[in-house]
Amino acid sequence: MQSAMDSAQGIPVVYNDKVVRQFAVMTVIWGIVGMSVGVLIAAQLLWPALNFDIAWLSYGRLRPLHTNAVIFAFGGCALFASSYHIVQRTCHVRLISDKLAAFTFWGWQLVILAAAITLPLGITQSREYAELEWPIDLLIAVVWVAYGIVFFGTLAIRKVKHIYVANWFFAAYVITIAVLHIINNLAIPVSATKSYIIYSGVVDAMVQWWYGHNAVGFFLTAAFLGMMYYFVPKQAGRPIYSYRLSIVHFWALISTYMWAGPHHLHYTTLPDWAQSLGMVFSLILLAPSWGGMINGIMTLSGAWHKLRTDPILKFMIVSLSFYGMSTFEGPMMSIKTVNALSHYTDWTIGHVHSGALGWVAFMSIGTMYALIPKLHGQRQMWSTRLIDVHFWIATIGVVLYVAAMWIAGVMQGLMWRAFNTDGTLTYTFVEALKATYPFYAVRLVGGLLFLIGMLIMLFNLIKTIAAPREAAMPLAVPAV
Ligand code: HEM
Ligand code: HEM
Repeated sequence: MQSAMDSAQGIPVVYNDKVVRQFAVMTVIWGIVGMSVGVLIAAQLLWPALNFDIAWLSYGRLRPLHTNAVIFAFGGCALFASSYHIVQRTCHVRLISDKLAAFTFWGWQLVILAAAITLPLGITQSREYAELEWPIDLLIAVVWVAYGIVFFGTLAIRKVKHIYVANWFFAAYVITIAVLHIINNLAIPVSATKSYIIYSGVVDAMVQWWYGHNAVGFFLTAAFLGMMYYFVPKQAGRPIYSYRLSIVHFWALISTYMWAGPHHLHYTTLPDWAQSLGMVFSLILLAPSWGGMINGIMTLSGAWHKLRTDPILKFMIVSLSFYGMSTFEGPMMSIKTVNALSHYTDWTIGHVHSGALGWVAFMSIGTMYALIPKLHGQRQMWSTRLIDVHFWIATIGVVLYVAAMWIAGVMQGLMWRAFNTDGTLTYTFVEALKATYPFYAVRLVGGLLFLIGMLIMLFNLIKTIAAPREAAMPLAVPAV
């Protein structure tokens, strides 16, 4: 367990690193589980027989298992670990309650376990990214409230006046996810495994995509920006490029995201004005998103040479580049005429994974490599060379995945809309599907490479944990 001197009073603070360590290790494990399921469903799209005619191995059941595992288990554990670590270090206090923190760890693992059992059994609310049935939703709400108490309670007892910007992002994410989760899951239960959502028709669709889009905005974006604002400066050994920019883009980001959800419902029965509103806010969203990207990347000014030797920093900078790319692509896809081409195609899947793998997974991996050795009494991971190997395998993997889906998506969109002079379709749907197969194969290779990278990480992690603790560990000092 590490300690740091409280600068104000000279009293050593013993941080709660146990819960951070637990979440950090589970990040790697759930990452491997979630991505393995991703690889399996990618293979199923190529060879449908891989469901072996077993209902719980069918694509429709495994796909939500994949999304829940990678977003909430892998991403969620990375966020719990990093937010608990950061809030303690930047506030110079131990978490307000060890018991409640431990409850959030075990509660969250229980949620994941329940998801892993119910989803393959076909127990689902059929709401994307909110598939879990009402008893699990209740458990999520309780765990999340406990998380809020630990996080805000720790902020409240902080020993430094200032609240470091990373905590602002985490605060926005903790509050917003609670609101989104509760409102989107209001349902009437009819049995332990079945409930009916209280909304209907287009209102239901709008609530769902208000939730879905802000889950992206606050879970997959704002919270990972919090992670970025602590670990990039720390790894680069430089202060954040512009503190002012971080505050400006924080407020711009959180106030804009809320309105962009309708871009998921273009050309539906949602009123046209609402679709256009969603499109306009999505276009505006480019500016705050790039504010964050620029702030992160420019933090390296004067330290670019470190990229030659530090693979952890490489993970973080490539992550920021993907963040920039996906937040340029998103606003473009929200333009109605562009969406008319991209919607329903694999272009969306390419966009999703440039954000999810390129941004979210890369930032999480970089952060875990920076954090895990410190939590286990080591200066660094067992092998820096293996981190570098992981970096290159993952980079090739994500590029193959995303490029294949982009090309496939545009091709599908163009084939579906091609008309002959007599008004008949030029291609049947099956022809477009057949043309997609080579790209599915490339995506599978890309995904497999990414998974191999994660297995290398696990090996490096085990070796790091097993190594004898180093005696002279540097004191953990906050980045502020
Ligand atoms: C080895 C890595 C991965 C592989 C092979 C993989 C594969 C897949 C596949 C095959 C799909 C279904 C696509 C379709 O229905 O056409 C999918 C969907 C999805 N994946 Fe992944 N994935 C990986 C990693 C991740 C990660 C790390 C995240 C998030 C952090 C993620 C988030 C998603 C989401 C949100 C969807 C649903 C997209 C939508 O509905 O538009 N994936 N993935
Ligand atoms: C400025 C930022 C962004 C904007 C304006 C934006 C916009 C969009 C648009 C227009 C779609 C397609 C909707 C459709 O045709 O169905 C989409 C889908 C999606 N985006 Fe983004 N995006 C942004 C950033 C991101 C980032 C950074 C991530 C991930 C970390 C992400 C994850 C997703 C996911 C998961 C979907 C698929 C949702 C589904 O249909 O299941 N987006 N986004």
